Amino acid sequence: MTIRLITVLRAGLTRLRRSTTRWWEWCPPEITAAGMADFWLPAQPATATSPDAPIEERHGHPVRRIPPPEDPMTQTTEEAARLSLKDLPDDRIFDAITLHSGGGELLRVEYMPVSLDGGALVARLEFSDGSRAVLKAARRGGRAGEQMQREIWARTHGISVPGPPLLWAGTVDQFHMLLTRYVNDFYRNSPSLTSGSPDLPAVLDGLAAFENRRTADSVPGGAPLFEEDLVPVVQDAYSVLDTLPDLDRDVWMSALHRVDFHAVAGTTLLHGALVPRHLLVAPGNPLVIADWAGAAYGRAWADLVPFGVHLVCAGWLPDAAEELLQRTFPCWRQAPHGAVTGLIAAWTLHQALLASHTPPTALQSAGLAWVSHRLRPV
Ligand SMILES: Nc1ncnc2c1ncn2[C@@H]1O[C@H](COP(=O)(O)OP(=O)(O)O)[C@@H](O)[C@H]1O
Ligand SMILES: [Mg+2]
Repeated sequence: MTIRLITVLRAGLTRLRRSTTRWWEWCPPEITAAGMADFWLPAQPATATSPDAPIEERHGHPVRRIPPPEDPMTQTTEEAARLSLKDLPDDRIFDAITLHSGGGELLRVEYMPVSLDGGALVARLEFSDGSRAVLKAARRGGRAGEQMQREIWARTHGISVPGPPLLWAGTVDQFHMLLTRYVNDFYRNSPSLTSGSPDLPAVLDGLAAFENRRTADSVPGGAPLFEEDLVPVVQDAYSVLDTLPDLDRDVWMSALHRVDFHAVAGTTLLHGALVPRHLLVAPGNPLVIADWAGAAYGRAWADLVPFGVHLVCAGWLPDAAEELLQRTFPCWRQAPHGAVTGLIAAWTLHQALLASHTPPTALQSAGLAWVSHRLRPV
């Protein structure tokens, strides 16, 4: 294992030396509305916020907290003790936000639930002209800041991604910021991946369309590499093993031994967390994928692992989930069997660590069912 980790780090360093500007040094080009036409969605009518949500004042704007959806991986900004709007150097930031979102007066701000491994501030803004936007912001340095920088890189480095339409990305003072057009209310109620769900065809079509357009001839200089990101994920996964029942531990262990850092290296832009809460679907509209903070270059099939675990979690039997993935995604047909099994284990156990204060999640049981299925003698 240690030898493998060293090998991948060496491989990563070789790639690093070849590159000039790394993603964390990236300065986004000026964002213009023209380049965003691809994934623009018509603005949807504002929905009423729960009248029970507490209201606060921030910079003279009423602020309401949106209750988190029923997802063990999300929490309110308050619980996360994260950045709030009052921490931002308001004048310049609010001027920029108003300018880039169309010029309407900012009327209302609502904090959105954030994920346990997410960025810092995520807030929905409402303007007097009826338009709505989502502001993500994080302080420079630190993990949240790095994630924001990576998301800014992913949204501006050249490959068009089906993310929420981008209005503005930049750094002011100590803060990285990303402003996107508000897409819809799906963060309240993530799409259902159950068999027969009306959301599922839109999700599968959107992901399949994205697969066809995100592979480059070579990895752009300075891009984050999936195999490098995988190193701490695998370390975390091993650290969770001790907390598991003996029987389960043996299965997870033999799956983790199959992790293959070379097999996941590739020239496809990966999202890194294709999970329901990031998949914004609305009838008649193309799929929009939120949160590019974990984007990296790697092999296309690797992106489907979190999605596959969520399929099993939604009730698909492992072989039916695999059959669905094979039918829908050409890259899945070429995925090396052992490396997939290893990645399922690493990703699922890493999630377990993030959610360590909650009881073992349904996600963990789904991951275990899937790896057990793949490890069975044939
Ligand atoms: N532009 C947007 N329009 C609608 N919903 C969004 C938009 N951006 C993010 N969301 C929702 O807000 C949630 C939190 O945003 P995300 O970018 O994932 O932040 P983090 O994971 O850092 O908390 C997402 O899971 C998604 O459901
Ligand atoms: Mg997220």
